[in-house]
Parts: sequence; structure tokens; C-alpha cells
Amino acid sequence: MKSFITTPIYYVNDVPHIGHAYTTFIADMLKKYYQLQGKEAFLLTGTDEHGQKIEQSALKKGQTPQAYADFISAKFKKLWDDFEIDYDYFIRTTDKNHIIGVQKAFEVMYQKGDIYKGEYEGNYCVSCESFFTSSQMQENKCPDCGRETTLIKEESYFFALSKYQDRLLQWYETDCILPRFRKNEVINFVKNGLNDLSITRTSFEWGIRLPESIGDKKHIIYVWLDALMNYVTALGYGNKVLQQDFWQNAIHIVGKDILRFHAVYWPAFLMSLDLPLPKHIYVHGWWLIDGVKMSKSLGNVVNPMEVAQEFGIDSLRYFLMREVSFGQDGDFSKKALITKINTDLANDLGNLLNRVLGMAEKYANLSLKCNEENLPQEKKEIQKILDSLECLMYEIQPSKYLEELWKIFVLANGLVAKYEPWNLMKEKKEQEVYGLLVLLSNILIKGALSLYPIMPQVATKILDVFGLSANAQNYHKFIKEHFIQMDLRLKKIDALFPKIEMIEKNDNPKQEQKQNLVDIGQFKEIEIKVGTIMSADFVPKSTKLLKLQVDLGEGRLRQIISGISEFYQPDSLIGRQVCVVSNLKPAKLMGEISEGMILAVKDDNGLSLLSIDNHKENGSRVS
Ligand code: MSP
Repeated sequence: MKSFITTPIYYVNDVPHIGHAYTTFIADMLKKYYQLQGKEAFLLTGTDEHGQKIEQSALKKGQTPQAYADFISAKFKKLWDDFEIDYDYFIRTTDKNHIIGVQKAFEVMYQKGDIYKGEYEGNYCVSCESFFTSSQMQENKCPDCGRETTLIKEESYFFALSKYQDRLLQWYETDCILPRFRKNEVINFVKNGLNDLSITRTSFEWGIRLPESIGDKKHIIYVWLDALMNYVTALGYGNKVLQQDFWQNAIHIVGKDILRFHAVYWPAFLMSLDLPLPKHIYVHGWWLIDGVKMSKSLGNVVNPMEVAQEFGIDSLRYFLMREVSFGQDGDFSKKALITKINTDLANDLGNLLNRVLGMAEKYANLSLKCNEENLPQEKKEIQKILDSLECLMYEIQPSKYLEELWKIFVLANGLVAKYEPWNLMKEKKEQEVYGLLVLLSNILIKGALSLYPIMPQVATKILDVFGLSANAQNYHKFIKEHFIQMDLRLKKIDALFPKIEMIEKNDNPKQEQKQNLVDIGQFKEIEIKVGTIMSADFVPKSTKLLKLQVDLGEGRLRQIISGISEFYQPDSLIGRQVCVVSNLKPAKLMGEISEGMILAVKDDNGLSLLSIDNHKENGSRVS
């Protein structure tokens, strides 16, 4: 059976970040898993390049939307190439074939009577490229992202979405959306009643024009209709014959933010076009940084390439898939990543391979052979664990899959401790040692085959030790048929995961003094100003933080969250002048924005705030 796996097409208003990488890794994992199962899979990704948001971003940069889209789209493509994502096609919504396909779809829906002309009056969120009725709005803000919306009143073509309400509800009775709790959200939304959807705009230029047959030049096709159509134009819709063999088994991977578009609008468009609906929509959660969304203004956007360069692509893939249960939100931090690398990867897996290679060399000159009766009985337990993995992948639970898989590595390390091969050698029980090493080698082979969809490079390296590769034939033999190879020749390789030191700040202040010399220019980049603390309160649920309002002579107070509550009572701080780093990027701490840092000194006797001899004007610069 053929499968068609898609990522969302990413907006080109911004460069790729860790959230985009996560979605794409999941899609790539699925493709690799299907291929190991001997199934053909087509992976589609690409960029979403039209719409008001992109037009505005390009304008801000003084570029044409096309030049801007070319630039950012290339960044996404390069990242996926550098990450060795096995995509089959990278679609851009500015591609000619896509544009023809979208116009064709508009024509088909129009001729069917599903599109009619009217006037749209309501709210539009440019950031989400989404329409909202006033009852959906929350205090005049977009209910999805919280940003200001614009009130628009313009002539528009509408899609008769309401007509498809019942058929959509029927579709939700299938296993179409996972995890299931997400499906319930969609069902509630649809049961509340669907309004027809405005699907054209007239107030900007950057998009696909209506088909000529309709003869209405001023309208641009709504960017979500344009974008969603990529899933079928990539397979030939509108130009050649749609590759139904792939489309019939389509799987969309999306973040929870765009579920409504995929689970309501998209199937309704497909119904109107008389095309089959997707088989599954897999919906994942959101990656946050210290509990808050990544955003340019907070300066907390994580660049996945930088992380991969520091820790390796596979370690990043492992962390993202292991750390959160699919569907839930997760918190990204380097500290958590390093912990996972050191424990799961270096200790459990890397160490196991090292031990097997070390013992195989010492006791058997890297050539292992044994008879069936010398294999430890634990082989059955290993196979049972491996058998349980398949359904976890089909239920899209990579985190649980890895949790289960890791049990075989832990068990293997336990076998070394249990059988103490070094003592067996002393007792001249070589056959038992060879039996143990053969089983451990087979655990590594089977483990690597199962790990391949998540850590392709690492799995390939492990399999290479045994002269094997990750392919459907080996997967079938070692995993499905429970084959154990009794005769092995091993090849030595370097450690898979060198341990990573967790570098804590100020570990060795003297050394820092020596190494971190800065010149005066660098020092001047840091703006330190005098300010007066006007109010101070505890931050709820925090034992360390105080929320301060500080006057820096700017005509407004700055909120600064400071970790000093163990050392100062809030009231004792009011009216006090302090030194503040005033050009620090804002950050969120325990859900509160902090716009600067109060300077303090800490030693074994506690903490003291930096103060100045005599009163100075608020805002005076420290130099
Ligand atoms: N262009 C639309 C999608 C059109 S699909 C026909 C879009 N693009 S996007 O670039 O804003 O986001 C696309 C996807 O990126 C999200 O649905 C999600 O899969 C992923 N992520 C973006 N930010 C994310 C996080 N912070 N965390 C996890 N994934 C997120 O929406």
C-alpha cells in the first residue's frame, strides 16, 4: 500500500525554528517507518508564500513579496536538506502548477454552486490569516493568537461551508483525527454551527487571482484555500491526473494551531471537489520556552540548526520525540536535552555498544559465534517488547515507542551485570560468554532497526558495526520473524555519544576573569542605568522572584522580575535607587514579562543590591 505523508507548508514570513523542525521530523519518522515495513511512502513539504502577512513582512524589509518568499523558502529547503529529511517534493505556493491547480479547484466549486458572491463584514486576523465573527472574538482580540484584528468590509466570494456540516460530523465518526481529544474539540466547534466562509479578498495584491472564466479581476483567493490545495496540486491535481494511489492514503501532520483549517475547511473543500478525504490528521502540541511561546519580540526563538550543530541532528530528533507525549505541549531547554543525551543516549545505548565491542574484542577477537542453547533465556522478553512497538507507531506515539524500546537496552546492560562475563571467562565458560555477546549484539541490531525512523544516522552507524543496513528486508527478518544471527563479525567504531558537560555559569570565576576579556566597545553595548523602585510584590507561586516597577526616567515604569525575594522584603525596597541593565531583551519569568535586570552581588553571606553613593537622576547611565 502507498502512503502520502505531509507537513504543513510553512509561512515564509519568518525563518524556521524548533517547532517547524519537530513537525518535519515526525513526518520524516513516519516515512522511514513505513519504508522499513516495506511500504511505499511519499513525503511532501514546502512553503506557504501568499497572503497579506507575507506581503506586509516583505514590505517591511523593502523587498518584493516574491524576492522575500524566494529567500525564506530557500532557507527552509536548505534546513531540510541539511537535516537529511527524505522529502519527495518541496512545493511552493508560487509554483505555476500549484496556481493552475488552485484556480481549477475554484472553478469546479463555483460550477458546482458551492461558491457565491456577497459581502464580508467582520474581523480578520492577519497573523492567523483567519476570519472571526464578533461573537468569536475575545475582547476585540483574535481568539487564536490574542493579536489585534482588523475590521474589514469588502466584496467577497463565499464557500458554502454550512452545507457540509452533517457530512463532516459523519466523517468525524471515523479514526480521522488523533489524538482523540483533539477530535472532540473539532466536533464541538462544528456542532455549534458553521458559517459560510469568505474565500476571496480585494484589499491587497499578493495572491492567486480568480480563474479567468469567472472574470472578476480584483479578487485574490483566500490564502488558506490556496495553501490547503497544495496537498493535491503536489500530486498533479489541476495539471495532470491526481495520483489517487497516494492520495487515497493521505496523512497530514499538523500543529494544534491549524487543526480547524485541516479538520473543517479542508475536508469540506475536498467534498465539494468530489475527492477522497484524508485518512488521518495527526495533531501535535506546541513547543514552548520556559512555558512561553517563541516569538521574535521576546528573543527566545530556538534555531534548530544551531542546536543540531552543538548536539547532533539525531540527538535533537530523539529529544523532541521522546520528551513529550505526541499531542501535548513541551518545554524546550538545552539542560533537558543534555540530560537526555547523557542518560538515555550515552549511558544506556552508547555504553552498551562500547561494552559489547570491548568484550567482543577482548574475548573473541571481534568474531562471535554460538549455539542456540548458549543464548540467555531473556531473548524471549526482548522479542516481546519489540513486538509491542508497531501499534505504538501506528497510533502515533513516538514517545511511548521510545520508552518501550529503551527497555531492551536497559535489559541488555542488566544482563552484563547479571552474568558477569569477566568471571565466566575466568571459569573457562567461554561458550556462555559468546552466547551472551551474541544476544547483546542482536539486541543492538534489533534496537537499531527499530530506532532508525527516529535516529537514522545513529542507527546506521550501529548496524554498520555488524555489517548490516536499515532496510525492509532486515527489518522483516530481525523484527517480524524474530531472527537471531548466531555468527557475527564486528567492526570497531568511535563512541556514539561523548558525554556532554553541563556548563554552569560562574563555575570558576577566576578562569572567567582570565578568558573573557572585553574591549571598551563591547562594554558600552551594555546599558546600565540608575532607577528607583516604585513598587515591589511577591510573584505568586515563586519562592525566589519579586515583581518590581522601576522608574528609569522614561515617562513609564518598567516591570522587572528579580530573583531577590529570599534576601529582601518587598516593602524595604520601595524608594531605593538601584542599577539596572536596561537594554536586555525582554523575557518571561513565571508568566511575567521582565524588561531589564537589577544588578546585585552574591557571596556566601548572601546577596546585596548595587547602590550608588548619592542620589542621581533616574535614567542616568552608569559608565
Ligand atoms: N502556512 C500555515 C500552514 C498551511 S498548511 C496548508 C502555517 N504555517 S506556520 O509556519 O505558521 O506553522 C506551521 C506549523 O509549524 C504548525 O502547525 C506546527 O506544525 C509548526 N509549528 C510552528 N510553531 C510551533 C511551535 N512553537 N511548536 C510546535 N510546532 C509549531 O500555519
